[in-house]
Amino acid sequence: MTDKIILGIESSCDETGVGIVRLDSQGGMTLLADEVASSVDQHARFGGVVPEVASRAHLEAMIPTMDRALDAAGIQLSNVDAIAVTCGPGLAGALLVGVAAAKAYAAALDVPLYGVNHLAGHVAADTLQHGALPAECLALLVSGGHTQLLKVEDIAGKITEIGSTIDDAAGEAYDKVARIIGLPYPGGPPIDKAAQQGNPTAIKFPRGLTGPRDPRFDFSFSGLKTAVARWVEQQERDDKPIPVEDVCASFQEAVADVLTAKAVHAAKELGIGTLVISGGVAANSRLSGLARERCEQAGIELRVPRPRLCTDNGAMIAALGAHLVAAGVRPSSLELPTDPGLPV
Ligand code: KG4
Ligand code: ZN
Repeated sequence: MTDKIILGIESSCDETGVGIVRLDSQGGMTLLADEVASSVDQHARFGGVVPEVASRAHLEAMIPTMDRALDAAGIQLSNVDAIAVTCGPGLAGALLVGVAAAKAYAAALDVPLYGVNHLAGHVAADTLQHGALPAECLALLVSGGHTQLLKVEDIAGKITEIGSTIDDAAGEAYDKVARIIGLPYPGGPPIDKAAQQGNPTAIKFPRGLTGPRDPRFDFSFSGLKTAVARWVEQQERDDKPIPVEDVCASFQEAVADVLTAKAVHAAKELGIGTLVISGGVAANSRLSGLARERCEQAGIELRVPRPRLCTDNGAMIAALGAHLVAAGVRPSSLELPTDPGLPV
């Protein structure tokens, strides 16, 4: 097999991403471009992503982002050998824009089209930084829309969900708590920053689903969010100031504690030696710090891609496409449907 150029398109939420990866004859991958246009600022005043606004922003950003990616990679469209696109899960209208664009490019260039799963894409992102995954690994996927534990036996086909959130995603909890304490959207980065100045043991917030009878690998964050809201309300009733840094540090500690404890427990129980943490919340400093400590203690190898690869991007979709090409998986047809609820 000669080198192949795989182009990935991502549009499942509020990021329009185009990534380009070179796949060599040994199955090695080189990232050539990773361009992202975000509509996050347009959603900020609503405190969350507005689907119609996201779809329109994808329409406007798709071709300019494509052009920027081709420029950055120093290639022409005619050099592209395959196109991968997120076909689910995600926002219906947003997915349609990326899939329609991918079909048009694939048809015009007469190259194969690969519809790929966004969640598997988050795991594939790590292979761009740390190389091929071991034969078996556990992935903790933590983003604004998802919180899942996945057993990954083959990134090109065999991924099994072993646990997930029963209510809010971890990133969603960050975004909602930020709103409660008056920090901007998206809440992850400002809470992470404020938490650096706070005391993580100042307030004892609950750890969801950690009782002896609770499901071991599932998560729950809505009780934590409500506990923060009640605590803040009580302070206001008592005419006391809100110690924002301590609230952030204590909330962040509760999230990182539960996520890392459950992931390490699952890896030990399943006898899996590698944990990958990906998705927007993987950019969190305390989550990666605590995961590092606990994985080291448990003798588990930890892989966390750099923040840029953790949040939504086209490079992870190109990487997953490259894995499918390398594995000889059959391409999708040009009838490829979108599936907002696509399971992993
Ligand atoms: O993966 P992502 O970019 O988009 C989704 O697929 O949802 O994740 C976005 C989420 C947001 O909820 C954001 O608040 C959170 O990731 N996030 C963080 C941090 N950076 C982004 N959460 C905690 N700490 C961070 N440093
Ligand atoms: Zn995502």
